Amino acid sequence: MIIAANLKTNLTRSATHQYIDTITKCIQNTAQEVVVFPAIASLDCFDTKLTIGAQNAYPVEKGAFTGEIGLEHLEEFNIKTILIGHSERRHILGESQEFIAKKFDYFKAQGFQIIYCVGEPLEIRDSSKEAVLAYLYKQYEGIDTAYENLIIAYEPVWAIGTGKIPTLEDIQDIHAELKKKSQAPLLYGGSVKVNNVKDILQVKNVDGVLVGSAALYAEHFCSMIQAADALTL
Ligand code: 13P
Repeated sequence: MIIAANLKTNLTRSATHQYIDTITKCIQNTAQEVVVFPAIASLDCFDTKLTIGAQNAYPVEKGAFTGEIGLEHLEEFNIKTILIGHSERRHILGESQEFIAKKFDYFKAQGFQIIYCVGEPLEIRDSSKEAVLAYLYKQYEGIDTAYENLIIAYEPVWAIGTGKIPTLEDIQDIHAELKKKSQAPLLYGGSVKVNNVKDILQVKNVDGVLVGSAALYAEHFCSMIQAADALTL
């Protein structure tokens, strides 16, 4: 399974080193694919067999894009994994589907492993299943769903950082629909915690989890990896 931590705008570079050291010790015998996305300013070369990914980058090698980072900055740290389409970038930073698709194409051309996020806001969720699917399918526009290095993450916007999660039946239902769009591994994200990860990982068509706040504590993230091992070893 794929167990990923999105550290968002948290942990300084030195705190991230400690974090990654702790996780690296904990995962020595794991059968899981573990990915950590540090804050952009905390990227570095880490002595680890964890996969380190970038939460974001501009689709360019380098150039005049104030405040952004480019391919060159990722290559410095040998980073070949990127998160694209996260709801915070869509809704807070205002990234359009068109721009997200451009970013996707650029990093696909570079052979990156892409974790591509989709998810619906609460008002859509509250309307109907058809509306949810129509909303999610729009987030597949311009995206090569057959890309061999693709992982998709279903993260309902209303479940992110709120402590609310869909029922396990709802996760299973949406994942079954999304698997029809792409055979890529499909993660669930949104308020995954130590106490619910085992149940979520056992849902059909859930190939792993993308964890935010609960992953900020290395011990909690380690427990989640161990929970996945207990299910798969
Ligand atoms: P939380 O786990 O804090 O809900 O965040 C999920 C997320 O956005 C991961 O990308």
